[in-house]
Amino acid sequence: MCGITGYIGDNKKTTEILIDGLKRLEYRGYDSCGIAAVDAKSALYLKRASGRVDVLAKLVAEEPARGPQAGVGHTRWATHGAPSEDNAHPHTDCASQLVVVHNGIIENYLDLKEKLLAAGHKFKSETDTEVIAHVLEDKLKSLHVQEKAIRSDMLEPVFFEAFRRTLADLKGSFALSVIWAKCPSMVLGARLHSPLVVGLGKGENFIASDVSAFLKHTKRVIFMNDGEIAAVKKDSVDFYTFQGKKVAKESVTIQWDSTMAEKGGYKHFMLKEIHEQAEAVENTLRGRLLPMGGDILNAEMGLTAAAMKAFASVQFVACGTAYHACLVGRVLFENFGVHAGADVASEFTDRARLLDKHTLVVAISQSGETADTLFAVREARAAGAKVLSITNTVGSTLTRESDHVLYTHCGPEIGVASTKAFLGQLAAIYLLAGHFAAARGRMDAGDARKYAEDLLKIPRLIEETLEQEKEIARIAEGFAASEHFLFISRHVNYPIALEGALKIKEISYVHAEGYPAGEMKHGPIAIIYKGMPLLAVAPSGRALDLMAGNIEEAKARGADVVAIVDEASRKTVRASRYITLPKTSELLTPLLTVIPLQLFAYYVALAKKCDIDKPRNLAKSVTVR
Ligand code: G6P
Repeated sequence: MCGITGYIGDNKKTTEILIDGLKRLEYRGYDSCGIAAVDAKSALYLKRASGRVDVLAKLVAEEPARGPQAGVGHTRWATHGAPSEDNAHPHTDCASQLVVVHNGIIENYLDLKEKLLAAGHKFKSETDTEVIAHVLEDKLKSLHVQEKAIRSDMLEPVFFEAFRRTLADLKGSFALSVIWAKCPSMVLGARLHSPLVVGLGKGENFIASDVSAFLKHTKRVIFMNDGEIAAVKKDSVDFYTFQGKKVAKESVTIQWDSTMAEKGGYKHFMLKEIHEQAEAVENTLRGRLLPMGGDILNAEMGLTAAAMKAFASVQFVACGTAYHACLVGRVLFENFGVHAGADVASEFTDRARLLDKHTLVVAISQSGETADTLFAVREARAAGAKVLSITNTVGSTLTRESDHVLYTHCGPEIGVASTKAFLGQLAAIYLLAGHFAAARGRMDAGDARKYAEDLLKIPRLIEETLEQEKEIARIAEGFAASEHFLFISRHVNYPIALEGALKIKEISYVHAEGYPAGEMKHGPIAIIYKGMPLLAVAPSGRALDLMAGNIEEAKARGADVVAIVDEASRKTVRASRYITLPKTSELLTPLLTVIPLQLFAYYVALAKKCDIDKPRNLAKSVTVR
């Protein structure tokens, strides 16, 4: 959460580049934003705004900076201090010379602030971040830097050393980008438990929370590790440890195109991404399916069939939508005879400590940067478990902290409510489950072929499902005034009921519950009132008869039932409206059943005129615990 950018280079474009980068990072938080830039004569330009980057862009256009060459920017998701212009980043020291943007939480900020106040520092915000600027101010003073006296060739080394010493005082998590008006030739960055990446240009360089901020300018990037500092200058970037030791780092070339992260004619990223799901599944499955792709996938993950056979259990862990993918994973693995568990990462700590090398932890995260998921992984590895991560983000922290990685190939997901990344995660789980089943003798070559054939048909069936968009929109609009929604299902589709409820909560701000259908009579059935919308996921399969009974029970109490069915199950289920999906094998149904629920949530939110891609209070990447 919070997006940070930094730039140094062509002095005419600095503020433009920073603002454009912030627009691309806005998914990380959007309650306030700001930029600061400094020109060759050390004049500082600072603009902040409460609200969206567009508001800031307008302010900057009205009063442009004169020839800045280095700058930093920030888009905020508030943790300490309400969303307001005063609390918006960048933050500065007493003399407004040192400028800081920060993503993360400084856990000891109250302690630091108390000492700084006692020493006479004046604070302008309620944030934890501002203390960093004041600590840095003190460190510069302690290096005996008298502004007038300092030699120009000493500015960079002194700034670096003061920054390095500042980091030693900070506890918590941070990605930082810092400039000093006196030293316009260098932007400094540092990372600890929050992502930061450097982009390498020609005569210009970039630093940001993620590559989308500068992908338009360069695809050559260097991912920073925890405990590293970057000294970013116009023609060079150097990396150091927090102890000041130089580190050699390799750059990688990102394959994503910046246009892949644009809306392509759709009204919202979420709708575009819903329509990209066939491609996301196809790309994730490509070349990796059993029986032919078995070795390919094993080699890619660095996980042999023998190792898959040896694990006593698999434990899934994730947050948000990715957690719902975990729940599907648990059912699949158990179906193939593997003991499996699934937990939300923030509630995993005690269980993680009980793990050992006989458990494979599967951590799922679109961004690969979710703080709770990363901490869960660290706990699990400390206990001796092996970790396989499923992620969409090459070079993310999660990939670097896992023993094995299985990438989804969904392309960038911008909409805060996750859609195509979820389908990609499901596809990866189906791949993994199939490989485990084959390695453990639960699938012979014939079964594997059938499983692969069924999976290969899914992208086409997703397209067919999407053809019902108009009908789904019509049903959704009819419910737009409802304030309560229920979603029920069973077995492998129970997580889809949870996901349906989450989607509508995220983007429409209404109360929704996802429930295991069998559990309704133990409480939630009491909340049903006449006309209450209830979406029942009821495809053909072992759960169908019981589902049909549960739907009857809800109808008898007045629920207005929309049933997600296939041609065959439609004959068993009695509902007021149906969304009929193409047929696939029972275990694969979640890959289709979730789609009408995503569209349903989208069209309810559209009818309610909600800000679909930037829902209130949420951020796409949650890098705080
Ligand atoms: C946030 C997003 C969700 C996402 C969750 C986990 O809450 O709004 O859409 O599912 O984080 O994110 P991850 O990147 O770990 O999959």
